[in-house]
Formats: sequence, C-alpha cells, structure tokens
Amino acid sequence: MVTVALSAVAQREVNYDESKVPQYVLPDVLTCQDGTAVRTKKQWEKKRRPELLRTLFSQEYGFTSEGKVKVQYELLQEDRQALDGTATQQQVMITFSGKGKSVKALMLVFVPNQRKGRVPVFIGYNFRGNHSMLPNEEILYSPYFQRMKNRKDPVLTRNNQASRWPLKYIISRGYALVTMCYQDIFPDNKDGGPESITALLPETDDAQSRWQALGAWAWGSSRIADWVVKQPWANKKQLIVMGHSRQGKASLWAGAQDKRFKVVISNDSGCGGAALSKRCFGETVAIITNAFPHWFCKNFSQYAGREEALPFDQHELLALVAPRYLYVASAEQDDWADQKGEFLSARYASAVYSLYGLEGITTDQMPGLHQPIMNHVGYHIRAGKHDVTQYDWQCYMDFCDKAFNR
Ligand code: GCU
Repeated sequence: MVTVALSAVAQREVNYDESKVPQYVLPDVLTCQDGTAVRTKKQWEKKRRPELLRTLFSQEYGFTSEGKVKVQYELLQEDRQALDGTATQQQVMITFSGKGKSVKALMLVFVPNQRKGRVPVFIGYNFRGNHSMLPNEEILYSPYFQRMKNRKDPVLTRNNQASRWPLKYIISRGYALVTMCYQDIFPDNKDGGPESITALLPETDDAQSRWQALGAWAWGSSRIADWVVKQPWANKKQLIVMGHSRQGKASLWAGAQDKRFKVVISNDSGCGGAALSKRCFGETVAIITNAFPHWFCKNFSQYAGREEALPFDQHELLALVAPRYLYVASAEQDDWADQKGEFLSARYASAVYSLYGLEGITTDQMPGLHQPIMNHVGYHIRAGKHDVTQYDWQCYMDFCDKAFNR
C-alpha cells in the first residue's frame, strides 16, 4: 500500500505493470561524459569514477560539506555481560559542535565476547531509536527521542522494532554491531535541517546542490566509522555499512563516498537507492521528491516526471562501490521499491567489477525467492514485505564471511 501523500505532480497512477515500463536508455557506466570508453581500472579511478561522483553530488544527494566540526565521543555505559553474557554493550554519546551549536547522537554498540582477534563490524542506523531494539531499561533514549515531551507516546515503547535486529544471532556469528538512530543526525522532516548536523557545517554557495538528509545520514555513518576504527576489538579492514529502505539509500551513498566500508548493503532501498529511476516502476522521482523534499538536493526535483532526462541512473551509484563488496536485497511484496529495478541496477553496476576481473552479477535473469547470488556483488529476493528479517541478516553474514574469508 502507498502510504505517502501524493501531491498534484505525483497524482499519476503508480505503475506496477511491467508492460508499462517505458523504453529507457541507461547511461553506460563505462562511457565518460566526453564519450571516451573506460577500458582500464586507471581510467575508471582517475576519470569516470570522480565524474560520476560529482554528478551525484550536484544532481541527486547534494555536496557533502568538506568543512570540519568538532566531534567528541563519550562512553556513558558499559555492560560486559549483555545479551545473556555473549556480548559487551556500550552506549557512546557523540557530540558534534560547530558554528556555536551542537548536535548529540547516541551510539549503541555490541561486541561479541567470544572472539579471536579483531572482529568485523556492522554499522547501521535504526529507525525508531536505540530503545526500540531491545527491552532493557538501561538503554538510553536516543537524543531525538529524549527531546519528546510526551513520555507516554507509543514510539517510546521499548523493543518495538527488535525483529529487525537479531542481536544474539549477529553476535553468535562473530560480528559486532554499532547502531544509532538516524534522526539524531538529521531529524526526518522537512524542517529538520536547522536541528541537524548540516547546520554545524559551512554551506555550499549553490543552494540547488546543497546536501540534505541523505547526505547527512551518509556523513554520519562515516563519523561512526571514525570511532569504530579506533576500537581495540574492531577489524578496521572489515567495516560493513548496512541500511534498510531510506537508510539503504543512505548506506549506498555512504559506501560510494567512504572506501573504508568494505561491504556495502542495501536492504529494500528502492527509489533513490538501488532501484533504477528510469524504469518508473513503483515510487518515482516525482513522488519521492514531493513526499520527502528534505532528502535529496533540490536539483533532483527537476527530474520529477522527466526520468528520461536524468544524466545518470542508480546503477552508477552502485558502481562507485567497486571493487569493494556490494549486496542488494529486495522483498517479494515490496513493489514500491521496484525489485526488478534493484536487481538490474546491481547487474549493470557489475560492468565495473568486470574491469577489475571480479565477478558481479552476470545474468539478466532475477533469481527465484531465497536463492541468493553471492559473487563480488550479491543479490537476493525473499518472500514477504518491506522489512528486515533474520533471513536478510543470514544472507548478509554469509556474504561477509565469504568476503572476509571467515
Ligand atoms: C517510504 C518512501 C521510500 C522509503 C521508505 C522507508 O515508503 O517512499 O522511499 O524507502 O519510506 O524508508 O521505509
């Protein structure tokens, strides 16, 4: 079911009919804007990759500020016997300060107690606050939720999104997890900017290509990574960025920019994430930029209803992860996110992996349900709705085990 309010521009029927997908031409990921064909890794790295990144900065997500803020990390709580004694849990407050203001964000950390050496680390935002992940009273409310006046609001119920985070299972497989509520970085509403980290950093001159929430969320993942790489238990060569839905969009964008993320995972990220925009299947540029004007930079709205004019498509975002590991997942009932568009995007991004002699997705045929592809690029579609399930996590960890030779 479509849950977003559709504005006048977007009132056209949402297309869920494959036969109504328009004829579209995708830009070739290996052809530069001046027509030069990319044949070597060097050409990709020196010319095509930077030009694609620039295009996505200016036309879709906005430029990430290169300015600096002061970042302080403070350990507030530690429990060495969390999750039935299997994990060490930490709560670490981050304070970002700049331009005379500050923003607080609270990390929640789980590290397996049984470990030989350093462990791989999942970095991923939660939607409903750290308190939504487990029932324990000692889990502090994320700063975004701490600000809520009505303490009886149902969103403050503990454990309300625990099914998305099978913590004991993740720990049992030897992975650490660092999570944080995405709203701490940029409150997810059209007036969220002034309360977000973007208010602490210098603004770019051009308002059309200024970053908003997705850019900020991606930036925030990198600030989590800055802390993680300094921890004695973390394998800094095995960082994984994982996100669901709008956070899948943000994790892809973080992975495109920050090469410390060795595995980049998109769970049901859809429009503006893994799905090809030019297919106009499910959510479109018009719908998303109307419903969420604070996610992308303003320039992206000019392609509303004009996807054919987009000088890029989302396979080029995915390609920026190469030659690192990339995994895209879809759900059978999640037509809104265009499962086929997500698959094809991973398929077309694979051209860059070939340049590195790596096997990505080499078939145009989508796999059946629960038949994951796990090459250097991975993909699965599972039964069920738009969500994160234990099956998704199982695939992600199988994929990471392979990537890290575990
Ligand atoms: C809405 C939005 C999607 C987004 C999703 C989510 O459905 O239209 O683009 O991925 O919310 O984040 O759950």
